[in-house]
Amino acid sequence: MAKGKVELETQAAAVEELPIDGFDYIELYVGNALQASYYYHRGFGFDVVGYRGLETGDRESCSYALRQNNVHIVLTGGMSPDSPICRHVLEHGDGVKTIGLRTRNARQCYQTALARGATGVEEPAEHEDEFGRFVFASVQTYGETVHAFVERENYRGAFAPGYKPVETVASGTGLTYVDHVVGNVEVDRMEHWVEFYKRIFGFYVYQYFDARDISTQYSALVSKVMANRSGTVKLPINEPYAGLRRSQIQEYLDYYLAPGVQHIAIGTRDIIRTVSELKQRGIQFLTVPRAYYDELPQRVGKIDEDIEELARLGILVDRESEGYLLQIFTRPVEDRPTLFFEVIQRKGARGFGKGNFKALFESIEREQALRGNL
Ligand code: FE2
Repeated sequence: MAKGKVELETQAAAVEELPIDGFDYIELYVGNALQASYYYHRGFGFDVVGYRGLETGDRESCSYALRQNNVHIVLTGGMSPDSPICRHVLEHGDGVKTIGLRTRNARQCYQTALARGATGVEEPAEHEDEFGRFVFASVQTYGETVHAFVERENYRGAFAPGYKPVETVASGTGLTYVDHVVGNVEVDRMEHWVEFYKRIFGFYVYQYFDARDISTQYSALVSKVMANRSGTVKLPINEPYAGLRRSQIQEYLDYYLAPGVQHIAIGTRDIIRTVSELKQRGIQFLTVPRAYYDELPQRVGKIDEDIEELARLGILVDRESEGYLLQIFTRPVEDRPTLFFEVIQRKGARGFGKGNFKALFESIEREQALRGNL
């Protein structure tokens, strides 16, 4: 029996990987795309680069496409109560609908995924205009979340066909790329989604964290990081683990009312500058106790940054064999305690800040307690 299971895993890992090169964009369904675009523009420093809506002939929905270096975010709102976008917002609050993946061949990704058992959402559609060729298709993943396959190799238009270009003043905060996108799923469902990414996408388990790695006196979670071979797409999957009180993952599920995206980690080359700028713009972050910084030199050894400056900003540090990383987490960015962002700077380290899990989760639990949800 056990032997059979091992063989199955080896077989699953041998599935050829879909030709995916990285993250392309992340789309949120929101209650008011216009106002959300102002938050991401002014707060996070994204430029609005494209718009589609009534003025472009879209009667059902409107979208703002925002960009900062290699990070693209799309904010979409619906126009009527029977719109699937409004229905999504009614049920889940604002949240991530689509994780777009860049590919050299969207049609092949879609057809292979379906042949391997994925559920299709949008069949491959090819657009050709004066800006080039754009191919799009999508499949279902956890909850109501969707993976889009985006082929835009030669496309030079405003974000995607149907969008009109918008020019905004550059206002970046140094965010450069999407490092990873984390999903929360229900208890005992992580393994199902791990198998899904192995079997459909040909991804593999990049790292694994068990309840001992991620636990406090109150709650715990388990997590497996699914990734493509080149490491340009990393998708950790969390599930709650029974603790003394309500796990932060369970709190998410209780408010999102489905599995969904918990956080989006965005990279920077200068986290001190980026976080200083974000704070000045009013983005709110989790805080860590002073004791964390008193213990830091002993835990991580010599680092380039000034520890007092990190303490002032609340930035966390973790050391691994190949280097270290710096990271910080925002408070939830929606009314419900669901989606949040991480800002990360990697200096050789390829992990996820395992040494910070305890401090981070204790920080989350302080906020959960304030919300009456611990
Ligand atoms: Fe993360």
